[in-house]
Amino acid sequence: MKVAVTGAYGLLGSDVVKVLQEQKHEVIPFPPHADLDLAEFGKVREFVFKYQPEVIVHLAAIPNPDVVEKDPVLGWRNNFNSTYNLVRVLHETGGVMCYGSTDSVFSGHDAKGPYNEFSIKHPLNIYGQTKYASEQIIEQKMQKYFILRLPFLFGLGGRSETNKLLNLIKKAKAGEKTVLQSDSWSSVCAAWDVGWAISKIISTSNWGIYHLASEPAVSRAGMMRCFLNLIGFDTNLVEETNYVDARKLAKRAHYSVMTSVLLESTFGFSMPSWQIGMQKCIEELKKQGVV
Ligand SMILES: NC(=O)c1ccc[n+]([C@@H]2O[C@H](COP(=O)([O-])OP(=O)(O)OC[C@H]3O[C@@H](n4cnc5c(N)ncnc54)[C@H](OP(=O)(O)O)[C@@H]3O)[C@@H](O)[C@H]2O)c1
Repeated sequence: MKVAVTGAYGLLGSDVVKVLQEQKHEVIPFPPHADLDLAEFGKVREFVFKYQPEVIVHLAAIPNPDVVEKDPVLGWRNNFNSTYNLVRVLHETGGVMCYGSTDSVFSGHDAKGPYNEFSIKHPLNIYGQTKYASEQIIEQKMQKYFILRLPFLFGLGGRSETNKLLNLIKKAKAGEKTVLQSDSWSSVCAAWDVGWAISKIISTSNWGIYHLASEPAVSRAGMMRCFLNLIGFDTNLVEETNYVDARKLAKRAHYSVMTSVLLESTFGFSMPSWQIGMQKCIEELKKQGVV
């Protein structure tokens, strides 16, 4: 399939592009943000009409809730208006939208169990609101779409200065501690595994909303301790903190664990455990001589 990818140079997008290429899709990465701002409708339309993709995998956004909370205008522009522009263009071309959403559409405070595709949405912060509004505009205006809600992601791509695994290694090598929350739980996915799932999903016409969430649920501190352990560093280099002491600008969920009641029955696969994805990252880091 001819697939355009927004956010193609980010943490998730860079792995998604690689997997889609491996799976023999014809991939058209949207240019970097500095060269094409998705919030500018004319430019988006010109690009899409030039390449005529059958599917747009839309992953560009500001994913950091604190950045969005600090500058909501920027957050709505990059996260919502960009999505709306793509929706408008796809309405003209008849192409398919595959949107990377988030567990932040849920409040994370009222769950009786993991959130499934039909759980009530109630974003806690402005980032979550921009992503939920994007889901809604897609649902209202389009017929051919996939909305894929994603949990906390890890991988080796994107900007190295914001890559959590690379920063953890850098600090651990310098003997410095990384402080992470241990009192909030979520699902986790390797970016590579999300790319693999996207490749399978967009090859069908089973439009709808799906959760991509690997098991088991874990806290940030727990996940990063596991990573340190696997690369042979002292796990005490992750220091535990709690929600109150972490003093984040944007409110965070205590429990945003997701499950899917649709994925396996619709597509015939479920997400592999995140530890397998982490092993893959470590193999790549070893190849690169980083660990
Ligand atoms: N990371 C996670 O844990 C996580 C969890 C759940 C869902 N998600 C979702 O997954 C998607 C990918 O996240 P990610 O972690 O890969 O983020 P990322 O590494 O920050 O990549 C996002 C990319 O989008 C670009 N971008 C932002 N606004 C743009 C605009 N207006 N026009 C063109 N490009 C723009 C950014 O460019 P600049 O950096 O140059 O601005 C960046 O390259 C996002 O939609 C996010 O909401 C992420």
